[in-house]
Amino acid sequence: MDRITMPEALKHTSPHPVSLVCAQTPTGATNMAAVSWWTYLESDPAIIGFALWREAYTCELIENTGKAVLSIPGEALSDITLKCGNVSGRDVDKVKEFGIDLVDLADTPVKFPVHSRLAFTCTVENKVEVGECIFFICNVDEIFFNENERQLFAWGGSSVVAPLKDTIKSRRSIRSYDPSKPVTREQLDKLMEAAMYAPSACNSRPWEFIAVTKREILDEMARVHPFAGMCSTATAAIIVVAIPQEGRPEGYYPQDCGAATQNILLQADSMGLGTCWCGVYPRDERIAHIRELLNIQPPKIPFNIVAIGVPNEAPEARGFFEAGKVSYRD
Ligand SMILES: Cc1cc2nc3c(=O)[nH]c(=O)nc-3n(C[C@H](O)[C@H](O)[C@H](O)COP(=O)(O)O)c2cc1C
Repeated sequence: MDRITMPEALKHTSPHPVSLVCAQTPTGATNMAAVSWWTYLESDPAIIGFALWREAYTCELIENTGKAVLSIPGEALSDITLKCGNVSGRDVDKVKEFGIDLVDLADTPVKFPVHSRLAFTCTVENKVEVGECIFFICNVDEIFFNENERQLFAWGGSSVVAPLKDTIKSRRSIRSYDPSKPVTREQLDKLMEAAMYAPSACNSRPWEFIAVTKREILDEMARVHPFAGMCSTATAAIIVVAIPQEGRPEGYYPQDCGAATQNILLQADSMGLGTCWCGVYPRDERIAHIRELLNIQPPKIPFNIVAIGVPNEAPEARGFFEAGKVSYRD
């Protein structure tokens, strides 16, 4: 094992839940700070804790009032949460400046954002000085929940605030990439590893992979394949090469190579990379072009091209469940 620092450890345990700790100012306004260092401490009675930097305005307010709301922000607050973590309420009225709509309940002294997935209204029970922070231990008075709000997490330490990706539902074919951002050898290895974890008939693993980052080859693939124009901005591609099976699993290689290809797509999406699956097999002309370009000798067959790169577009998710395509035999 390697010896690492605390900021590195934070990155490696990424993503963390992120909260907005809200407090009331002396004028009755609301201030809030982004706080990743919060935790459940006890369920009955309900107790939570959070650590706040001693110099934070929110820390001072909670010390004075003994009241706080820990909001788990929803997706609409992703940019705002990051902003609330980078400026102080001593300098800016965050609610006004960032246009944060607040829930105003008569019986809770501290207001919190409307777009909260959860909100724990709480009363400080105890506090512990921890380095430059104060760790507040709070009795939870009430908990509010709105299931329509998607939870946010802090990624890469605390530099990005975003929801967890539901890779299967959010993945889309990407046809425009940032040509200045290369795909690394480590990333390509990870994608091909994912491919090789796919199931195959009789565990025959009828595949090989060619990882291309050479610009001329990517451009040539864009030229010879009628639907692979995006390879001209992609900074890498993986060519899935099928090796037709003999014996018992004969004929299953298209399914096996398809499963391996889908694993590449999903793994890439989870790593923030975009992909586009460009079919080569079973079109004889495309097979011939790619065979020649990459010197793939029979019986091996260039099966498809997966264009890869850092996305330059973010198309909306569009898959959906179609009940009419499903039947049951109970
Ligand atoms: C994602 C994220 C998480 C943060 N987590 C914490 C935390 O757990 N504790 C803390 O004291 N500050 C944390 N910060 C920094 C505070 O939010 C920041 O100091 C804020 O500007 C304080 O605002 P205030 O002076 O209005 O209270 C975090 C910042 C970000 C962006």
